[in-house]
Amino acid sequence: MKAALLAVGMAAAGNASAQSLPVPDLASIPATPTGDAIRRGHALITDTHAQLPDHVGNDLNCSSCHLNGGTVAYAAPYVGVTGLFPEYRSRSAKVISLQQRINACFQRSLNGTPLPWDSNEMNAMLAYMSWLSAGVPVGQPVAGRGFEPVDTSLEPDPVRGQAIYADQCASCHGAHGEGATTADGGYLYPPVWGERSFNLGAGMARHYTAAAFIRRNMPLGKGGTLSAQEAVDVAFYVTQQPRPDFPARIHDWPAGGRPKDAR
Ligand code: HEC
Ligand code: HEC
Repeated sequence: MKAALLAVGMAAAGNASAQSLPVPDLASIPATPTGDAIRRGHALITDTHAQLPDHVGNDLNCSSCHLNGGTVAYAAPYVGVTGLFPEYRSRSAKVISLQQRINACFQRSLNGTPLPWDSNEMNAMLAYMSWLSAGVPVGQPVAGRGFEPVDTSLEPDPVRGQAIYADQCASCHGAHGEGATTADGGYLYPPVWGERSFNLGAGMARHYTAAAFIRRNMPLGKGGTLSAQEAVDVAFYVTQQPRPDFPARIHDWPAGGRPKDAR
């Protein structure tokens, strides 16, 4: 895992947009009670599966998608988010708080259950995100917020997608999307489909959203090497594999605007 993290760091360092994100050094977290909460928030975000077993229903961590603790451009960084929420979201057709946004990822991306809003764990995650956001003016998104969108007029080809997966992804994520664990049962490479992966309500289950993440960030350490078409092909192949359902997704986009890749 250490090697994998270094690879992400190197990919990010070689990319101009990533440098426009002001990322404070973890060593600069103050030795105060608030500093303790910031450190706890960082630990919860990078080791979510092991630390919050009652709230995580799969084998992922927040940082499986929000790379390097949410500090990488176009890997949905947390830098700046505390100055942007509450914010309107078309998926729920409501203005939602940052706590609600975090809990949406618990329920969908982690196929789990929400954290109580006033829990120490929720406040620790918020403290970490505030600390990360301190260098960004309130209300200003950073360059590299979310993912870099791909052209949604590209039609996916699942046969090509399967070949790309076998060639460029299976070595880490497994022939059956199951990921890989270490000898002591710890996490090494996260699953990309099956019962231990994100559910059908997750943003990552939409193939253009997944393609946007994959094109910039995967294969890990070689982000940017797939064409947009290849990213759409492999994302379609991966997202259409079996995964847990999220029945409440039928209530998404209540005011319309349902994207064409919504499940
Ligand atoms: C399976 C991948 C995945 C995992 C795991 C995941 N998320 Fe997300 N998250 C997403 C996607 C996709 C988005 C939407 C990105 C976009 O706006 O383009 C998102 C968005 C967010 C946002 C809003 C970012 C913004 O700029 O508006 C926050 C905050 C967030 N997630 C927090 C979390 C936290 C905290 C966890 C762990 C408890 C987590 N996520 C786990 C995929 C994931
Ligand atoms: C060198 C190993 C490696 C390769 C090759 C690789 N990945 Fe990943 N991938 C990772 C790791 C590690 C993470 C989680 C990042 C972290 O925890 O820091 C990840 C995260 C992901 C995620 C989000 C988390 C999840 O489990 O859903 C997706 C989706 C994904 N990879 C798809 C792909 C696709 C598609 C390819 C092939 C084009 C690919 N990866 C190639 C190592 C790899």
